[in-house]
Amino acid sequence: MAININKNYKKIQKNYIFTQINLKTEDFLKNNPNIELLKLGIGDVTRPLSKNLVNIMKDALENQTSKNFKGYPPETGYDFLKNAVTNYYKTQNINLTKEDVFISNGAGCDVGNILNLFSNINVVVQDPTYPAYFDSNFLYGNKITLISVDKCNNYKMLPDNLKEDSYLIYLCSPNNPTGATLNKNDLKKWVTFALKTKSIIIFDCAYERFIEDDSPHSIYQIKDAKKCAIEIASFSKTAGFTNLRCSYTIVPKQCKVGNNSLNDMWNRRQCTYFNGVPYFVQKGAEYCLSKNGLKECQKNINYYKTNAKLLKACLISAGFEVLDTNNSPYVWIKCPKDYTSWEFFDLMLNKYHIVGVPGCGFGKCGEGYFRFSGFGKRTDVKKACEEIKKLQH
Ligand code: MLT
Repeated sequence: MAININKNYKKIQKNYIFTQINLKTEDFLKNNPNIELLKLGIGDVTRPLSKNLVNIMKDALENQTSKNFKGYPPETGYDFLKNAVTNYYKTQNINLTKEDVFISNGAGCDVGNILNLFSNINVVVQDPTYPAYFDSNFLYGNKITLISVDKCNNYKMLPDNLKEDSYLIYLCSPNNPTGATLNKNDLKKWVTFALKTKSIIIFDCAYERFIEDDSPHSIYQIKDAKKCAIEIASFSKTAGFTNLRCSYTIVPKQCKVGNNSLNDMWNRRQCTYFNGVPYFVQKGAEYCLSKNGLKECQKNINYYKTNAKLLKACLISAGFEVLDTNNSPYVWIKCPKDYTSWEFFDLMLNKYHIVGVPGCGFGKCGEGYFRFSGFGKRTDVKKACEEIKKLQH
């Protein structure tokens, strides 16, 4: 019998959005080798890890003498890190057990991998959205309902007009790419909808530490959310682990589809497919959740937030329509005049030497929009602001 390939690969864009951007910028640099680009595209961290964090990880490696040598880590994480995670949740008055916590190697990976628990499902995703939600569901052949978000609905996806049915619902708050944040009432609406329709929510809180108002950091701040929500968090943006790779996914014991425990299934999946996160990385992540670690991480988060605020202020004063939020490292703008997202990308790259992300890379409704990342270097952000002033329109 012939080998059948997954034909859905033929139906998605040949390259992922960030690969497309890399190809375009590499091409530009080939022709303009002396130009330094201002990199405000992919949300990749640029601040170095703290000395304390590096020392913790160094010690974790050096102390592995033959007596303490570590082989495979436990597939779902060391207890010390799971306990650090449950303690972090306790500070938000959320009680989790360590069995609810699964240490993993990236929120982006888990967003796709979690689909292994389901089959032939209806999925609800906002448009524009983090492209991995869309691509991974498309590859699994799931039916996707897109809900557009824009100025008219405050860039918030809510269940108000959604047909009652069972869905897998993706929520990301603060949102990537727009930065819009769901408040307690918004999340209550979703939890009520999910419980009523036997839906499951995937709550991506990768940017929760960027919140500065009273918006919830976790969906479990909402009553009964443990029955219907999986939460995916990450050390990438909050602790600068984009290279180290460490994240955690919460699948509460109470979270079930019919009589099937999603916790048991995810445990089975991870033990089969995943060999765990390195010991030294988990020791580093544990430190990041300690009192000192949290403080040190917050310094870097504040740096990125200041970047985003500088970008936002200069874009507003240059006359751009900008989504006004202080809870996000990203700045989401409407392209000027009748520029498409890629036309504006090309203008920014070729004339102003700024790399951002064309909004259409996040979905059809992102067409005509553009995203700047605050994760760049301050010097790049300041230079970009000078260039943006020239764009007055
Ligand atoms: C982004 O720029 O949207 C993110 O860095 C992508 C990711 O987290 O995978």
